Order: sequence, then structure tokens, then C-alpha cells
Amino acid sequence: MNRRDFAIGAAALLGHSLLPRASRADVPTAYNWQAFPPLDNKDQYIAWMVANRGEDPVYLAQRWDRYEHMIGHRDLFTDRDKRAFLMTPREEFCLKQNLPRAYERDFLDIGFGVTISGPNLVGRMTSSIDVQYGEKVLEVGTGSGYQSAYLANLTDKVWSIEIIKPLAERTRSTYDALIKRGYSEYAAITTKNADGYYGWEEAGPFDKIIVTCGIDHIPPPLLRQLKSGGIMVIPIGPPGAQHVLKVVKKKGVLGGERIVRSDIYRGSVVPFVPFTKLEGDEIVGTHNQ
Ligand SMILES: C[S@@+](CC[C@H](N)C(=O)[O-])C[C@H]1O[C@@H](n2cnc3c(N)ncnc32)[C@H](O)[C@@H]1O
Repeated sequence: MNRRDFAIGAAALLGHSLLPRASRADVPTAYNWQAFPPLDNKDQYIAWMVANRGEDPVYLAQRWDRYEHMIGHRDLFTDRDKRAFLMTPREEFCLKQNLPRAYERDFLDIGFGVTISGPNLVGRMTSSIDVQYGEKVLEVGTGSGYQSAYLANLTDKVWSIEIIKPLAERTRSTYDALIKRGYSEYAAITTKNADGYYGWEEAGPFDKIIVTCGIDHIPPPLLRQLKSGGIMVIPIGPPGAQHVLKVVKKKGVLGGERIVRSDIYRGSVVPFVPFTKLEGDEIVGTHNQ
């Protein structure tokens, strides 16, 4: 049986339509941190995911193809990073009209003038912060919820902040609906609607921080809330032309701390939506200096 026949057969078996849409089946097997889907065979991966996660083979095939592309581009560093990508149903976080494009490389519109970042970028940024199980991770810019869902396959402690209230509420309902369907790993994600420039003081300090909107400096509160030895990934630069920086807070020899920065794309410019600013209940401009 070739891959396409397998997909059609498995879809028919599950009563799934082959029309692009997010899968709606419940997850048949309890989440298991030790369980890995096959990482080196497409048909076996799809069969494992259908059996254990109840997902649509059509999207699984697209996820696999994007995965192979990401491996080729060195966006996924470890087997845990590979697992996190392969376990996260991106189609659940895309707008209906964009479902046929869910696994394309580009960012996609998610409404409210903002976007879900492309899968390669999410993979490279997340791999760069090397999240270990049990670590506390803060995301600034919840957006569609995809990034934090991906993080919830790496650790059981994720906090995420979104500045646009109706988007924060929509994404919270997406998580709640998915948790009800058996995606119990998303119970690890705590969300709030706020201005992420100030971080999340009560929940910190964090082992890792991932910022998904672009700014011209590192917000001092985020740096303060990063643990010593912690890693932040953040798009830094002028509007629409950021460099994605990995920022490591290292212990200095004399007991102080020093900040070591590197560009995860070695100089390539990556445009991000702006890191906006909340004044009262209104979003007014950005935090750029
Ligand atoms: C590239 S988009 C979202 C990507 C998101 N991580 C995902 O997986 O869909 C960046 C998000 O950052 C949000 N954002 C911008 N400024 C913010 C701020 N000051 N605090 C929190 N979120 C902010 C935007 O509203 C937008 O949803």
C-alpha cells in the first residue's frame, strides 16, 4: 500500500472526510511522556498517530512532509524536539479558511491583524531554548496557541501571555475544547490577557522564555524573570526586520551575571508582528524605544 492509499484507507476507516478540516476525534490513548511516535518512517508515524491520537491521516501526512523539510533545514535539534513537532496538531490552531495551508512554511493570518508563525520558525526557535521536562517556560504572544501547545510536549509548565483580549479568550477556548477531547498535555498551559512586556512576575522566574513578537530591545522585566543559566529567544530589531536572538543569562566568574547573545539565523532578517503596548484597556503603539 502506498502512502496515499494508506491515508485514504485510514481516513475511510475512521469515517473522516478527506476535505481539509481540523480533525475532531477524541484522543483514544492517555498522554504518555515516554511515548514517541516513529520518527523515521512516514507510514508507521501515521498509523501510530491514528491509533494513539485519533488524528486525521491527511493532516498527519502533511505534518510528516513538513517535518522532513524541517529536518533538512536543521530546525529540529533533538529527538524530543522532533517528537514535539510531530505530536502537535497545527491544524487545530489555524483559521478554517487556512486549513489547506496549515503545514506550509509561511506564517498565516489568525485574525486581529496578527499571525501564526511558520512551522520551521517555531521549530528553530523552540529547539534553540532546549526545553527540558519540568522546566518553567514563558511565552510572550500566545496568538493562535500553537507555540504553547508545542511547548506542552516538552515540559509540563507553560505560561503564555496575549495582549489582544478577544484573541486570548478565543485561544483559551481552543485549549479548553482540546483538553476536553483528551489533549490532556494542554492542561499544562496557563494563559492570561496582559501586556507581556512586564512578564509574569508571580509565576517566575523562568528557565526559558520565548517571545513571538518583534521589539528593538530586550524588555528588562523579561531578563529579570529569566533564571540564572536560563535562555530566552526573542526577535530584536526595527519594525518588520528583526534578528532572532538567543539570549543566555550566564553566571560571571566574579559572581555577577553576563548576557551572551547569538543570532539563530546567522544574520538573516525575519519579520515579526510588533510587540505592542497596553495603556489601560487600549493597545497603543509599541514598546520600541
Ligand atoms: C506572531 S504572533 C503569534 C504567534 C503565536 N506564538 C502562535 O503560536 O500563534 C505574535 C503575538 O504576539 C502578540 N503580542 C504583541 N505584543 C504583545 C505584548 N505586548 N504582550 C503580549 N502579546 C503580544 C500579538 O498579539 C500576537 O498574537
